[in-house]
Amino acid sequence: MTNGQAWRPFRLSESEAQMRLEALALEKRDMDVRDAFAQDASRVETLSWDLDGLHVDASKQRWDAEVKDALIALGEEADLSGAIADLFGGVKLNTTEGRAVLHMALRGEDGDGFEVDGQNVLPEVLEVRGRMLDFVDKVHALHAKGEVTDVVNIGIGGSDLGPAMAAKALRRFSCGPQCHFVSNVDGAHVASVLQDLEPQTTMIVVVSKTFTTQETMANAHIAKSWLETGGGTASKQLVAVSTNLEGTRAFGISEDQTFGFENWVGGRYSMWGPVGVCIALSIGSEHFKAFLAGARVVDQHVRHTSLEENVPVLLALLGHWNQNALRFRSHAVLPYAEDLGRLPAYLQQADMESNGKFVGRDGKPVSWNTGAVVWGEPGTNSQHAFFQLLHQGTEIHPVDFVAFKTPTSEHEGMHRMLLANALAQAEALLQGRKAPEGEPHRFFPGNRPSTFFLFDDLSPNSLGMLVALHEHRIFVQGVLWGIASFDQWGVELGKAMANALLPELEGKHNDETCHDPSTASLVKRLVG
Ligand code: F6P
Repeated sequence: MTNGQAWRPFRLSESEAQMRLEALALEKRDMDVRDAFAQDASRVETLSWDLDGLHVDASKQRWDAEVKDALIALGEEADLSGAIADLFGGVKLNTTEGRAVLHMALRGEDGDGFEVDGQNVLPEVLEVRGRMLDFVDKVHALHAKGEVTDVVNIGIGGSDLGPAMAAKALRRFSCGPQCHFVSNVDGAHVASVLQDLEPQTTMIVVVSKTFTTQETMANAHIAKSWLETGGGTASKQLVAVSTNLEGTRAFGISEDQTFGFENWVGGRYSMWGPVGVCIALSIGSEHFKAFLAGARVVDQHVRHTSLEENVPVLLALLGHWNQNALRFRSHAVLPYAEDLGRLPAYLQQADMESNGKFVGRDGKPVSWNTGAVVWGEPGTNSQHAFFQLLHQGTEIHPVDFVAFKTPTSEHEGMHRMLLANALAQAEALLQGRKAPEGEPHRFFPGNRPSTFFLFDDLSPNSLGMLVALHEHRIFVQGVLWGIASFDQWGVELGKAMANALLPELEGKHNDETCHDPSTASLVKRLVG
């Protein structure tokens, strides 16, 4: 398959199952989930799933067994099973870039059989993983001697969000140097991180798939000269992760401090391999392997489970129902765990950069909704910020609650408070409340949908599962919506225009450049 040719073209607008769903939507749009619970004693069981220490309860969503069956019929018509087989089979389904999509190989084990162009890629993956984990062990030994106290990950987007989210989420497992993350091209970011660090005991890990990203290269140059002027040794303290080995060499990073990966790993799906080196440096080799193993549990599940029982597929179908039948356009993700504070930001890139597209895989504009607006904040902070709108706003925003049975701190009583709040909010969204006489502002309509994700604990394994669940959910939605989930052409234009504008801000006026009047006026104010 080459550039421009569609992989599995599927148009929802021509799907019989979708037509049936739209008819059902008219019937069920205003269904009252409270009545549905009263009428169907098995509702919780029918609309909940279990997977290796995770319980997902989607019974508070505005759907039922009939809708679920119609969605599964859509999944069959879209041949989701075939699409999943193609994904794992290394088919070049990233057609606009002519690439396979095999991030699952990064968490694979011998015998899993991942091939690209007929070549088994696992030996190389396992070799790089082994080398990376040896490096981690070596740094941990230096850490024990006080020679490496801190590590700074310099990267952005997929080279930052996943590792930063995971390192924070697994704070309790941290056993190595302290990891910091610098991403923004605002110099305040790198300055604020470096100001508290010691150049002689800090390692700088430059993570960039392309090794050309403006933000990352600017931050990397600043960090490199900070190391050198502060008495550090660049050859020992600089590390690179990239697919562009020429670029890493030109930057002056030695080969034994460089970890490569292949272009069949998308940036936002890359933290399972060398891009995740700061996760491994933070939590150690064994915990990192547990993180990969958790994701692999979900890979095996999605690959070998029928659509009816397949949790990421069911979540994707439910998301489609919310987006395209009930027209709920946003999706709030609320982790009731402070340590998962970066999960919403991570998911924004994973979901919106993958599925925020209006041109289909067949090159034609789509006539249905694609990626939802993803947003959220952890724990009860969100209750004191935007829950007002969730409970009484004019629009409905489905919510994912993510909670853990086991406390993530020694303050067990607080954990019970946290869980009570999560359960109460989900229940309040559903139940609502009548207004006291003469006080209409105290009316809670209720019947507002949510899904409750309850894990046994927040561990490397369960975090791996959580992320892989979303990765596969996003993939399946892209298949249904007929879009190419693994490219990101929508980020190109702004980048190119920023590069063109920069010389103007440096005072190099260019007569050829033609701006809209508003931009021209702003440039004039800046350059005087
Ligand atoms: O935001 C666009 C993007 O290309 C992302 O897809 C990617 O994760 C990020 O930039 C960083 O790219 P790189 O790893 O090549 O520096």
